[in-house]
This record gives sequence, C-alpha cells and structure tokens, in this order.
Amino acid sequence: MSPLARPDPVDVSLSVNGTRHLLRLDPRRLLSDVLRHDLRLTGTHVGCEHGVCGACTVLVDGAPVRSCLLFAVSLEGAQVTTVEGCRSPEGGMGPVQQAFHECHALQCGFCTPGFVTTVTGYLAEHPHPTRAEAREAISGNLCRCTGYVNIVSAVERAAELLDRTGEPR
Ligand code: FES
Ligand code: FES
Repeated sequence: MSPLARPDPVDVSLSVNGTRHLLRLDPRRLLSDVLRHDLRLTGTHVGCEHGVCGACTVLVDGAPVRSCLLFAVSLEGAQVTTVEGCRSPEGGMGPVQQAFHECHALQCGFCTPGFVTTVTGYLAEHPHPTRAEAREAISGNLCRCTGYVNIVSAVERAAELLDRTGEPR
C-alpha cells in the first residue's frame, strides 16, 4: 500500500443497546462518529473531541469510555450502551434519566447524555454512594450550566430509584 493510499476497510461486529451490527469501517473512524452518523444514535454528544468534557461517554462492556477517543474497529465483539440504551425496558425514562429530571439536573442538556451513561456505569459498581462519592463519580464530566449541585443530587436519587425498581444495574 502506498503511503497515500486509504487503509482497507475493516469488518467489525459489535452490539449497540442490545442490537448486533455488522459494519465495514475505515479503521480511522471514531466510535462517536459511527454511533452518530452510521447508526443515527445522536444522543451521544460530541463537545471537545479530545477526551476532556465527557459529553461523548458511552459504556463499553459496562465501563464508561470516551467515544471520541476510541477507534470503532477496536470494538470487535463489544457491548456498547449509549444514552438511548439507558431508557427503561418499557420505553420511558430509565432510573438515571428520571433522577436527572426530578432533580432538575440539566439546563441546556448538552452534557446530560454523558452524565447519564457515566452515572449508569458507576451505580452498577457502587450502588450506594455517599454524596462525596457521587461528586467524585462525575468529576470527569463537564457541565457549563448547572453548577453540579443538582447533578450530585441526581446521582443519589438514581441510586434510590434503582434500589426501588430492582432493575439490573
Ligand atoms: S467529546 Fe469526547 S470527551 Fe469531549
Ligand atoms: S446542562 Fe448545559 S452543559 Fe450541562
């Protein structure tokens, strides 16, 4: 291959919100772009595009990752969960989304998908956080609007709702 040639596309099989996708991708495509442009899952927002703001956070095999930093071809066989996958099984808001709604934990909402996925992944591992732990859990996500107080409250409320619903975390 000449230095200027485009790399050959790569076949990737990955699951997004429970649906298996077989994709043929340029190896340089970012997961955030594949989610938004190829799969039309535009709930994943892109802010800084270099791993700082957290708006693009999704779960890969349950762990929060910055989708703007990941090559999609590296995810062969992975289970990806976006904010669209954080809905309740009945189709309404899931517990974390409900908690953000109840606690008025958003204003413009641009950052919110990244918070929802981050908090979903965190509570799966830490179901009963203290307020200090809740604050630490969201420390990698930036919000320009809210001042974070209500977001921390939403983490605590989400933990309560998850306890109540008994939904898998
Ligand atoms: S857009 Fe990925 S961390 Fe900001
Ligand atoms: S609600 Fe506007 S950036 Fe967070």
